[in-house]
Amino acid sequence: MKNKLVIGNWKMNLSFEEANDLIIAIGDALEGFHTNSEVVLSPSFVYLELATDLAEEYNFSIAAQNCSEYENGAYTGEISASMLAALKVNFCIVGHSERRKYFHETNETIAKKVDLLHKQQLIPIVCCGETMEERKNNEHFKIVEQQLVESLFHLNKEMFGHVIIAYEPVWAIGTGETATPEQAQEMHAFIRSLIEKKYGAETAYNAYILYGGSCNAKNALNLFMQPDIDGGLIGGASLKTSEFIAIIEAADSAAKDN
Ligand code: 13P
Repeated sequence: MKNKLVIGNWKMNLSFEEANDLIIAIGDALEGFHTNSEVVLSPSFVYLELATDLAEEYNFSIAAQNCSEYENGAYTGEISASMLAALKVNFCIVGHSERRKYFHETNETIAKKVDLLHKQQLIPIVCCGETMEERKNNEHFKIVEQQLVESLFHLNKEMFGHVIIAYEPVWAIGTGETATPEQAQEMHAFIRSLIEKKYGAETAYNAYILYGGSCNAKNALNLFMQPDIDGGLIGGASLKTSEFIAIIEAADSAAKDN
């Protein structure tokens, strides 16, 4: 049995006080129950120190939402992988579709970030996913394959074992239009088959492939019960304690039943 992984991506939301209260509320609610699921919270950069301090008392880990493609130097406003490591951050999301769309992140820059994160022993959470237009044109498999090949498949087998993949169809993010469990499973199975071809069956089995896009307390269990869905990358629903906890409970029971 494989544990499920649930990551809350808070995006650019919450005041300092709200972030503090949410971390504590989630931490308190998690005490003792989530034996078959692991939880990661991903607040904004400015709350990371608060979050990593509190994480020491609680049963979850912390992810940043982005990092620089550069190691250090004259890059005003950027935050390096080594700065995140110094804050005891464990994971970092890269290649989120919002960053691809609004901040021109490409597969090539994502590959650089993956390498810099690895150098600091951080685990990249690499996002991929197609737009609705690409799906309508039946290009979704090709697009996701290209994203993964160009951002991740330069890694050797050992380093590929230190990566998490999140399939987030762009049309499902923040829209309330979740992928059906069948649509998500089909893509997750495809991603796992690509990994198997490149790195072998054991690496493919061990790989974590999360689903993201309007995942909520109502639909989480059906998604997480799919054989190739190893958990979720949750946006809006991770900002409400009860909703997020219900999603973790769904992950927990799906892990037990799988
Ligand atoms: P929503 O859950 O709000 O659709 O966001 C998903 C997401 O982008 C997580 O990274």
